[in-house]
Amino acid sequence: MSTSTTYLENLKNRVYFATDKEVPRDFLDRMFAEGERVWQDTLAPKGLEDRKVLIVGGGGYIGVPLTTHLLARGYSVRCLDLLLYQNRDVVHPFLGAKGYEFMFGDMADKDTVTKALDGVSDVIVLAGLVGDPITKKYPQESAAINDAGVLNVIEQCNGKGLNKVVFVSTCSNYGEIPVDTTADESFELKPLSLYAKSKVAAETAVLDGKGQVDYTGTVLRFSTAFGLSGRMRFDLTVSEFTRDLYVNKKLDVYDADTWRPYCHVQDFACGLTRVLEAPAEDVAFDAFNAGGDVNNYTKAMMVEAIVKHIPDGEITYVEGGFDRRNYKVDFSRIRNRLHFTPKYTVDDGIRELIAALKQGFFHDYEQRRDYYRNNDIEYSKT
Ligand SMILES: NC(=O)c1ccc[n+]([C@@H]2O[C@H](COP(=O)([O-])OP(=O)(O)OC[C@H]3O[C@@H](n4cnc5c(N)ncnc54)[C@H](O)[C@@H]3O)[C@@H](O)[C@H]2O)c1
Repeated sequence: MSTSTTYLENLKNRVYFATDKEVPRDFLDRMFAEGERVWQDTLAPKGLEDRKVLIVGGGGYIGVPLTTHLLARGYSVRCLDLLLYQNRDVVHPFLGAKGYEFMFGDMADKDTVTKALDGVSDVIVLAGLVGDPITKKYPQESAAINDAGVLNVIEQCNGKGLNKVVFVSTCSNYGEIPVDTTADESFELKPLSLYAKSKVAAETAVLDGKGQVDYTGTVLRFSTAFGLSGRMRFDLTVSEFTRDLYVNKKLDVYDADTWRPYCHVQDFACGLTRVLEAPAEDVAFDAFNAGGDVNNYTKAMMVEAIVKHIPDGEITYVEGGFDRRNYKVDFSRIRNRLHFTPKYTVDDGIRELIAALKQGFFHDYEQRRDYYRNNDIEYSKT
């Protein structure tokens, strides 16, 4: 089958006109060739006019901006989500949008996933119980969702003629690394929590697919997210600290000298898209730290950045907290191989959140804590 004109136009827009200026021309050409290959190998055989991405967990904090980004770039999106956090409202704006489809359901359910995978070209797996506290609180649910559920998706992806399958993991997998070192992707993984242990197991399942499965599998180890989203989360450090100080809540900062990398949700959307569009051989069965060196911060550095905007807060520094994670991360692989660098700094995220708070957004935080934080869930495997 020859390439449709609409598809070629869309592809050109995506690759040559909408892509960052700093991406070198030869890489853009290879991305364009990749798009043509995807047409031949995946879209035409499936009878798809353009790429259709299944986002598992597309109703979450990162899934919402990712959906907006992909739709704006001309992709179709199918979202499979269980809406565990009363986050039904966040998908309302997408309902009826051209190219958008919502599927309510559990990724741990075999039939649901079979249906969700039908007629899509690519898959991004975001869904899960996200964070150390919620997995600690719900260990059985965590096993059902983060272990069995994720594995159900990964296994079922094989044999469906899919193009790329991207599994979103976490830099938390590095655990506690020696002072004065930075973790690149070859660094030993030392997951400290149930959450990270499940992520490491799922990463292994994806990467072991090399030579065994008919799709291109990739793992992205995300930094801790910040930034505004249609499903806002205030249980993540940058946003939690900023909101707390904004509302004059006393802030206890545990282990202020511990390092973490941070990344804006819009940058994650761009990074995930770059993986979808990159030449398959550049991302096949490999892991990438997702973020940028500029956003490696200690908690003390972050508090300092917030205090520049909100100077009057009451802050106490506490040593010996229960969370031992301490990792400074090296992002050269994603920068050199995929030409991805984040656009937003932590300071940008602080500023935009303060601007939103000043306008009265998130005023209902206290009444809707289970919406704004991954706190409590009701889950029974379907
Ligand atoms: N937010 C961060 O700071 C961060 C950092 C590193 C990695 N990540 C990873 O990014 C991904 C997305 O994180 P997020 O912050 O958007 O989380 P989130 O909790 O906001 O979103 C997760 C979504 O998955 C859905 N979900 C949960 N179980 C499901 C199931 N069984 N079937 C279908 N849907 C289900 C939830 O309803 C929710 O909408 C996760 O895989 C997370 O581990 C996030």
